[in-house]
Amino acid sequence: MATTSAIPGAIRCTSLPFGSVDADLLVIPWFEEEGPTAVAGIDAASAGDVARALQSKEFVGRSYDIFSTHVTDAAWRIRRLAMVGAGKRATFGTETARRLAVAVGLWARQRRVARAAFLMRADAVGGATSAQMAQAIAEGLTLAEFDGGSYKTREHDVSATPAWTVVAAAGEESASQAAEGIARGRVLGECSNLARELANEPGNRLTPQEFARRAAAVASEAGVSVEILDETQIAKLGMGLLLGVARGSDEPPRMIVFRHDPPGAPATPVLGLVGKGVTFDTGGISIKPADGMERMKDDMAGGAAVACAMRAIALLQAPIRVIGIVPATENMPGGRAIKPGDVLTSASGKTVEVINTDAEGRLILGDGLWYASELGATHLVDVATLTGAVVVALGKSTSGLFGTPPEFVDQVRRVANQAGDRAWALPLFDDYRDQLKSKIADFTNTGGRPAGSITAALFISEFTGGLPWVHMDIAGTAWADEAKPYLPKGATGVAVRTLAELAFSDFE
Ligand code: BES
Ligand code: MN
Ligand code: ZN
Repeated sequence: MATTSAIPGAIRCTSLPFGSVDADLLVIPWFEEEGPTAVAGIDAASAGDVARALQSKEFVGRSYDIFSTHVTDAAWRIRRLAMVGAGKRATFGTETARRLAVAVGLWARQRRVARAAFLMRADAVGGATSAQMAQAIAEGLTLAEFDGGSYKTREHDVSATPAWTVVAAAGEESASQAAEGIARGRVLGECSNLARELANEPGNRLTPQEFARRAAAVASEAGVSVEILDETQIAKLGMGLLLGVARGSDEPPRMIVFRHDPPGAPATPVLGLVGKGVTFDTGGISIKPADGMERMKDDMAGGAAVACAMRAIALLQAPIRVIGIVPATENMPGGRAIKPGDVLTSASGKTVEVINTDAEGRLILGDGLWYASELGATHLVDVATLTGAVVVALGKSTSGLFGTPPEFVDQVRRVANQAGDRAWALPLFDDYRDQLKSKIADFTNTGGRPAGSITAALFISEFTGGLPWVHMDIAGTAWADEAKPYLPKGATGVAVRTLAELAFSDFE
């Protein structure tokens, strides 16, 4: 796993009648309310086995259930069918399709299917265009190819992934649209997987320097220009917050700067993406309990999302300028570590009294956001595994959104939900700022337990220079503790598709 994954092959697209598609398996999404004739030809091809399974309720179309049977019709090239439950037709949309594609993709891998076809039903696009539906399916099939990797020296089972063909309805005009959607979904899925791979890496392998090297490779391969600032350059810029967090570690910090500058792009907007890149968070002197601390190797998931979104933005040729900023450091309790009560001076000039050294993410984001605005960003979006409190508020399936103005927060929310990164806004009422009052500095870095995610966001807002800004807290969504049919355990790649798609959305 120490090397970057191979770039996957393309997902093919065809509009052949599905019986003549050259594959081993045909996957057909099926709704709960549907009888055996819902998709013409399927029941007959199975010599009535589909009708029998529906009749006996062996298969009822419940989400992610899979029923597989032989094709008996000798005229078909495909020899197996798999019906996958799509739930109720009324709730079907791109998000259901993406999840269903993951579920069936994982299933086909487990069965060692070599070549599989996925039927995109023309009567099941749920209000989306066929390009959007094809994109979601390609994203899901690609997400299912992710391999968590392993440092086991024996018996690591890298099950091969099937070669996929998406079958758009025969004769459909929108087949070329579907093909475009598939190519786009393939890129976004692949970039999500690269972010998952980075977030899965252990802290000893992925130091700030190594993270910077790998993040730079991921983005520059796609044509993004990348600059890595070392500790001397970071000090020259006066980034006292990033340097403060890094003091407790023997590993030097890095500031990774990405630029997507397409020729002919308008001067504005300039989207500034900032990702938290803590390669391991022990908590520092305010050290975390041992139990579960190993999870903190993914505290750079926001930074990985920015790097991999920059890759997608370049590959998909986003029409606007985008700057990516990833402050990278460890948070360690070394002999020179910052201590509770220490005062740090940020690059912006504002001073911070560090009450809790475990609230390090907001510190490095402060210098990161300042730098993004310094480099000319007109709109800021930061992504960070920032607070345990957001998991209490929204759980493991929904990221927290914060920011200003409300229209920009809502723009990010819509893009995120469309991209399959569910997110929900929490308020930034001014009263909460009282919790960050310091006797000795401009403010403290923690506001106590109440509204912990909100006070963290209010801290960050001090460094946005009044620009439109959205903060996405992914502490709950970056890592799956429990496997779901549509999401295996481990790093999720959250926010990659949101950040990439944002570069294609409309700015004021
Ligand atoms: N990286 C953690 C947040 C986190 C917690 C991410 C759980 C994923 C899962 C962050 O740096 C942190 O330690 N936050 C503290 C802030 C507190 C000291 C104000 C927290 O949430 O406890
Ligand atoms: Mn912390
Ligand atoms: Zn952290």
